[in-house]
Amino acid sequence: MNLNFPGDITFAPGSLNALGKKIASLDIERPLLISDPAMTGLGLTARAAELAAGPDGPPPLYDRCVENPRAPEVSEAAAMYRDEGCDGVVALGGGSVIDVAKGVRVVAAGGGEILNYDMAKGGIKRIGRDLPPMIAVPTTAGSGSETTLGAVIIDPEIQFKVLIFSPFLISTAILLDPEITLTMPPKLTAATGMDALVHAIEAYTSPADNLVADGLCMATFQAVGQNLPRAVAEGQDIKARGNMMLAALMGGMAFAAKGLGAVHALAHQLSSHYGLPHGLANALMLPVVMRYNAEAAGEKYLTVCRAMGLEAETPDQAVEALAAFARGLDMAGALREFGVKEAKLAEMAASAAQDLSLRSNPAPCTPEDLAGLYRQAL
Ligand SMILES: [Fe+2]
Repeated sequence: MNLNFPGDITFAPGSLNALGKKIASLDIERPLLISDPAMTGLGLTARAAELAAGPDGPPPLYDRCVENPRAPEVSEAAAMYRDEGCDGVVALGGGSVIDVAKGVRVVAAGGGEILNYDMAKGGIKRIGRDLPPMIAVPTTAGSGSETTLGAVIIDPEIQFKVLIFSPFLISTAILLDPEITLTMPPKLTAATGMDALVHAIEAYTSPADNLVADGLCMATFQAVGQNLPRAVAEGQDIKARGNMMLAALMGGMAFAAKGLGAVHALAHQLSSHYGLPHGLANALMLPVVMRYNAEAAGEKYLTVCRAMGLEAETPDQAVEALAAFARGLDMAGALREFGVKEAKLAEMAASAAQDLSLRSNPAPCTPEDLAGLYRQAL
């Protein structure tokens, strides 16, 4: 069993206000603030910059991160980090922003390009413990990237989501402030919340033996079942928002320990080829993968439903109960409705077969099986 959790997590409404103190406590003199245009539009990067200001004024800001981040953004942000003489990063955003920030840390310490650190090509050995510190301030509740050991970055030449992974990529400190998520629109709330749920489902059904991570999965199922519909319908409900932030954290901790599965392997290709939001792509693939895995993981799916407060007596009913849950959040549909073409399925299935998430799926999948799953979801 392996567990690697971040050691410094603050959860409280308003905890963003502690950003300056946290920066000082980590002896960061010049952080690079990394974010995205949406956060700047909401005035959140300006607020964070003010809170992070030191004797030299506000920190430099890189706010050009995009959903499903690509290697060039990491290069751009890493160049800014170097040129500005930074000694730490503050990641203010969802999983994409936090993943870019992780990439910046890797390049800042080891040089070169982020794709040189591809886990599938032995990159883990090239990432040392001397990474600059990172304070993660998630602005969504889903990716769990604040607590995981990996970053997923698209190689634009091959349209493939590359995994950068190292135990040293863990956040140095995390500030979870549910107030930040109060303005998150319902669609983004639903998509990121489904991501958190799928993390816990895939971690729970992974064959790895890890009772601690399974406990975190159970708490995630309960928190998502009770709070995600509420957070989508009533965005201002701070309790629901806070519980979803904790669900995302726990789901992230669980999959960092136990791995993911075929839903993520298939969903990654939908994002890199068609730009689908990650959480939505997961939601679209979940029912067909559950059906495929039912023989190996059917009993566990019933446990998922019980913990979420959904009724199911058989694995088939569990698939339907979870599909209905996703439909209730408007996170359902056929892939073709999102522009996915049949002609592309074999190529995406071949890529999904190479995705490291697949290694912990409860049932083995060949590229043909994966193509079949895309076809069923089409
Ligand atoms: Fe995910």
